[in-house]
Amino acid sequence: MDHAPFLERALAIVPRDDTYIVERVSGRLPAFLRGTYYLNGPARFSRGPVKYDHWLDGDGLVCAVVFGGEDGVRITHRFVRTRKLSEEEAAERAIYRTFGTAFPGDRLNRGVALESPANISVYPFAGTLLAFGEQGLPSELDPIALETRGLFTFRGALTDVTPFSAHPKRDAATGELINFGVSFSAAHPMLNVYSFAAEGTLNWRRRLPLDAPRTIHDFAVTARHIAFYASPYVLDAAAIVRRGRTVMDALSWRPELGTRLLVLSRETGDVIASIPLGGCYCLHVVNGFDDGGDLVVDVIEYERPIYEQYRVMPELFTGVGRGRPVRYVAGADGVVHRRAAIAYSHAPDFPTTDPHDASRAYTEFWMLGISATGQPGRKFFDELVHADWSRPDRPDVYRDAAGRFFAGEPAVVSDPSGREAPVLICPMCDAEHGRTVVAIFPARDVARGPIASVELRNPLPPLFHSYFVAS
Ligand SMILES: [Fe+2]
Repeated sequence: MDHAPFLERALAIVPRDDTYIVERVSGRLPAFLRGTYYLNGPARFSRGPVKYDHWLDGDGLVCAVVFGGEDGVRITHRFVRTRKLSEEEAAERAIYRTFGTAFPGDRLNRGVALESPANISVYPFAGTLLAFGEQGLPSELDPIALETRGLFTFRGALTDVTPFSAHPKRDAATGELINFGVSFSAAHPMLNVYSFAAEGTLNWRRRLPLDAPRTIHDFAVTARHIAFYASPYVLDAAAIVRRGRTVMDALSWRPELGTRLLVLSRETGDVIASIPLGGCYCLHVVNGFDDGGDLVVDVIEYERPIYEQYRVMPELFTGVGRGRPVRYVAGADGVVHRRAAIAYSHAPDFPTTDPHDASRAYTEFWMLGISATGQPGRKFFDELVHADWSRPDRPDVYRDAAGRFFAGEPAVVSDPSGREAPVLICPMCDAEHGRTVVAIFPARDVARGPIASVELRNPLPPLFHSYFVAS
């Protein structure tokens, strides 16, 4: 059974770099919607004779949708000109091994790490725009033209093999950026944690031993804590470096190791708790905050890892396990004394909150889901969900028609005056007809469907993470 008809057409789209004013806007865009919705994700899944197997393999494509300009809505999209893309384009063949694809003669960065395709996320920082890959230094882009300026080394503090993840967190009060990266040495696996000042320089770096080379994709930062949901999904780095394996093939699911919630003090950088949480998997954290003496960490928790569901392109999510948003409340005694879940288990992903709610007590968030979770066959994100911790049993869900999908992480935008209700920006693709729109939903009533949509001149493939910058 194919629950995602025509998905292969959407994933095969390779847009040319372009910038233009949108000609067709349906419905009414709210006047308060002013700013840029950025999106990054993998596109182009072949180079010469090499066909990529895995959704994480494509080259990073960044898109900017600028709302509120005098001319209307402006779209710019451009491939991130990483070292990988530039060298492979010049050679007209694939050169570097990717997350899920190895080929004879393929290369690694300095023989030890993947050459980053900068294809996961995009964040503004220190007056510039950074495009991140799964691991490695981000690429710096011009925030308007999206032209690539080169690797961003944080004023020379990091190198192109520094472990560095794709979901840094910014402290809105200080402008500080906090990120982490795992060193996957089998003998001495290490969690590296970094703090950068608002202007881009390194404040501090901590190296903390891990019990196993656990892969961690995302984390939570609160006023007083840094928290990691450390799943038992471990990486055998030697298999990549010495035996020519892909990252995907070097990963193994080891539930017997158990999951741990690692809690660090932001003040000292020390580990203050390592709390057993069973044996589930987390890719993305929804949010985290301090609540009196408690630490609240909200995650999307799955029965098993997700990355194996990203292959083989374009047959995605054929065996995806259930997943749901879960809240853990840990006390100062280092014990989880409350666990709560949202009643939505359709393998949700790409959770997003109002940026004003980051690291604060909050109730609402949004995410994508896969309606056919639990059934065999190919599937993709066809549900948009508004969830609320104050009514966890009643998520607000919009389901798209067959052959149409959600094509990237949504972003919520609130009216600064508070007069109008917030809206949710979400790209959608009509895979059968090769159309992409950026839809605007009423954020607190997504089941109503879009109130406006912006039609793109060039369709885009489904992408990953978003970020909205208000203007
Ligand atoms: Fe991510």
